[in-house]
Amino acid sequence: GMKQRLLVVANRLPVSANRRGEDHWSLEISAGGLVSALLGVKDVDAKWIGWAGVNVPDEIGQRALTRALAEKRCIPVFLDEEIVHQYYNGYCNNILWPLFHYLGLPQEDRLATTRNFESQFNAYKRANQMFADVVYEHYQEGDVIWCHDYHLMFLPKCLKDHNINMKVGWFLHTPFPSSEIYRTLPSRSELLRSVLCADLVGFHTYDYARHFVSACTRILGLEGTPEGVEDQGRLTRVAAFPIGIDSERFKRALELTAVKRHINELTQRFAGRKVMLGVDRLDMIKGIPQKILAFEKFLEENPLWNDKVVLLQIAVPTRTDVPEYQKLTSQVHEIVGRINGRFGTLTAVPIHHLDRSLDFHALCALYAVTDVALVTSLRDGMNLVSYEYVACQGSKKGVLILSEFAGAAQSLGAGAILVNPWNITEVANSIRHALTMSPDEREKRHRHNYAHVTTHTAQDWAETFVCELNETVAEAQLRT
Ligand code: UDP
Ligand code: G6P
Repeated sequence: GMKQRLLVVANRLPVSANRRGEDHWSLEISAGGLVSALLGVKDVDAKWIGWAGVNVPDEIGQRALTRALAEKRCIPVFLDEEIVHQYYNGYCNNILWPLFHYLGLPQEDRLATTRNFESQFNAYKRANQMFADVVYEHYQEGDVIWCHDYHLMFLPKCLKDHNINMKVGWFLHTPFPSSEIYRTLPSRSELLRSVLCADLVGFHTYDYARHFVSACTRILGLEGTPEGVEDQGRLTRVAAFPIGIDSERFKRALELTAVKRHINELTQRFAGRKVMLGVDRLDMIKGIPQKILAFEKFLEENPLWNDKVVLLQIAVPTRTDVPEYQKLTSQVHEIVGRINGRFGTLTAVPIHHLDRSLDFHALCALYAVTDVALVTSLRDGMNLVSYEYVACQGSKKGVLILSEFAGAAQSLGAGAILVNPWNITEVANSIRHALTMSPDEREKRHRHNYAHVTTHTAQDWAETFVCELNETVAEAQLRT
């Protein structure tokens, strides 16, 4: 029969648009784990519905952008500036994001957020309805609709209210916090009820799924079962689907001349020094200040290493209209400046901090040449950077230092050095351990991680989810 169509709905489209003229747009790949993972999914008849990251107030611009995106199988949802401000900057990134990552708001913002809550939540629902309207327009019977992330928790309800026969899945790419944290959210019940309208609800780890089920039982008084959550005989299936990467894509890149040239340049540039790498969006959940302070402590305690090691920190700008992110940027710059002033020499500094994104080839080269990767997330849904690093270390067999608070700690825990990123003494000691580790131990640890990363692909993840969604719907039909 005909291949089933998949409509992927996410706030962020895989390409972001830049306007070059009245009816001319250029597209570039968007940053972040959600986009990388979905780009790793091949061979499905998928269309994307989402926001292109720009405000397009005029009809000429909208029509031209719609055409440009169509070539990438993308369909835009146009959000105006006010909605983006209240829904994306406000409700999504100032309220849900910190809450889901167990990070409180700073004291001075707490009351303002409380006061703005209702108008931002209303904007959130309006925005979700705008995504739903675009889905209705493109939906054909039999399609699978896969909604992604905390931006779209209201979408399953919009879709099912419109057409109860739609097959709807929802997947969260962040942690789902303990119900003790989640229950502080004023809109806690409405959001849970909406998510439960989906047929299948997925998380990266079993813990997040369990937290979600307890939130439903404790806050809504529903029944949790091993299968999911039951409400008056109707089951919402809840399960863990750990994501992966397209590791072959990274391995292939390492064979390219352009990437090999990068690798040679980097090797020469840092000859005689060990190189440590951090790659993160410049987000408070990534624990970048904590990582840098731990590195400082290592330098302090190991003076012999001072000009023999360098930390390259790629900090990709993100959500730059949200004040918390602006504050983080200046905080990180200040710490880096101080440490480089303290430990730098006339010819070298210990930290190279870049406030920008890298293209795929430059990124692969960095992953391949570095001796240690440092992932210190305070909380992280999964963390694909750790997977990508492992995929590129086939010959070097570098060491991964990984936060125990990243979802990836559950899959790469056997090969990585796990750390509590809040404990900078422990991280400093792990840095020394990583830099001095015997080749045997490095090889053994790498083998563990490499086996996992190359066998648990993004492709498998997506296939498993969609297959489970189809089965869940079929079983529900049998029951009625
Ligand atoms: N990445 C990117 N541009 C860069 C550097 C990295 O798009 O300049 C990608 C990186 O390859 C990875 C993703 O961004 O796939 C980050 O995903 P992760 O799960 O580690 O964290 P997230 O950003 O989703 O919180
Ligand atoms: C995380 C979120 C994604 C988001 C990405 C980048 O990975 O889970 O939904 O797309 O960060 O953030 P942005 O706000 O730029 O989309």
